Amino acid sequence: MTELVRVRDLQVHFPIRRGFGGGKAVVRAVDGVSVEVFAGETLGLVGESGSGKTTLGRAMLRLVAPTAGTVEFEGRDITRLGERELRPLRRRMQPVFQDPHAALNPAMTIGDAVAHPLLIQGLAPDRDAARARAASMLERVGITPAQAFLDRYPDDLSGGQKQRIVLARALITEPSLVVADEPVAMLDMSVRALVLDLMAGLRRDLGLTYVFITHDLATARLLCDRVAVMYLGRVVEIGPAATVLAEPRHPYTQALLQAVPRVDPAAAGRARPVLPGEVPDATDVPGGCRFHPRCPEAFALCGPDGEDPALEPPADGGPSSGVTVACHLCRTASRA
Ligand SMILES: Nc1ncnc2c1ncn2[C@@H]1O[C@H](COP(=O)(O)OP(=O)(O)O)[C@@H](O)[C@H]1O
Ligand SMILES: [Mg+2]
Repeated sequence: MTELVRVRDLQVHFPIRRGFGGGKAVVRAVDGVSVEVFAGETLGLVGESGSGKTTLGRAMLRLVAPTAGTVEFEGRDITRLGERELRPLRRRMQPVFQDPHAALNPAMTIGDAVAHPLLIQGLAPDRDAARARAASMLERVGITPAQAFLDRYPDDLSGGQKQRIVLARALITEPSLVVADEPVAMLDMSVRALVLDLMAGLRRDLGLTYVFITHDLATARLLCDRVAVMYLGRVVEIGPAATVLAEPRHPYTQALLQAVPRVDPAAAGRARPVLPGEVPDATDVPGGCRFHPRCPEAFALCGPDGEDPALEPPADGGPSSGVTVACHLCRTASRA
């Protein structure tokens, strides 16, 4: 498997000033992540709000500058490239964000919005050629007949239609990588599955690689080949989606899955166990295992005087399953 993206020891820290008279602090949004994205796969980034998913996705696209570590894209180190050097690479790596309303300029027609990247990247000889390609991409994303939409404005359209147009605009430059950050979270329930289906079909047909950010584990299970579970700026468990989401190893992944409402009528209405405590502040990351203050299974090694666990295959026969997990308990063979 070829690596399309390779992230090594990545940190993205944001210096902030706290409220009135508060001192300076550093938000450790991404705090030591190494991960690769293989060509053709969908890698899910899951975890509670504030765990660093968006920041990691943005760093992969170099929409945010890393504090430390490296990001390689298509075999090239892009960590320190300037905007001028990044420009020719931008067409190969495209974001799709949560809010399609904010993503589209209300003053630009749909035809021009989708054609625009071709013109600014010099990928089409003229506006007519660019609009012709835009029309066929709009057809491909289900905005049909495209001719009827080219001269309309986004305000006339539904959220689902807008997100299809955002997808068309992202794909028109033939990217290899698409980072989709909660792409259906703002859409009506009734169209979410349709847009996700469309995205899955586009990946297959166009040979795309997706980084799919979601806090919805059911969606991750449907769409992703592998998932990386993030907690406070770290990947704490990563492996095949079917394995991680069926047999979670990390107590955090287990808790996330237990918090998912179940359809099972016997369980309905009964409170599911949730994690004790709150997500700690990313300016004040606990020592030892950063999950220990909320972990039901923490022991001495996990505490502030213990060690920060590295991602490793679990001791009880994990390696063949392709899962790695950052948990001291999982390193001890005794756990069944
Ligand atoms: N530009 C920024 N400045 C300061 N803090 C930020 C910035 N962007 C994100 N953060 C903080 O970084 C942490 C991770 O945020 P984010 O990457 O958005 O997580 P997620 O997408 O998992 O919710 C949060 O504590 C968030 O408040
Ligand atoms: Mg986010």
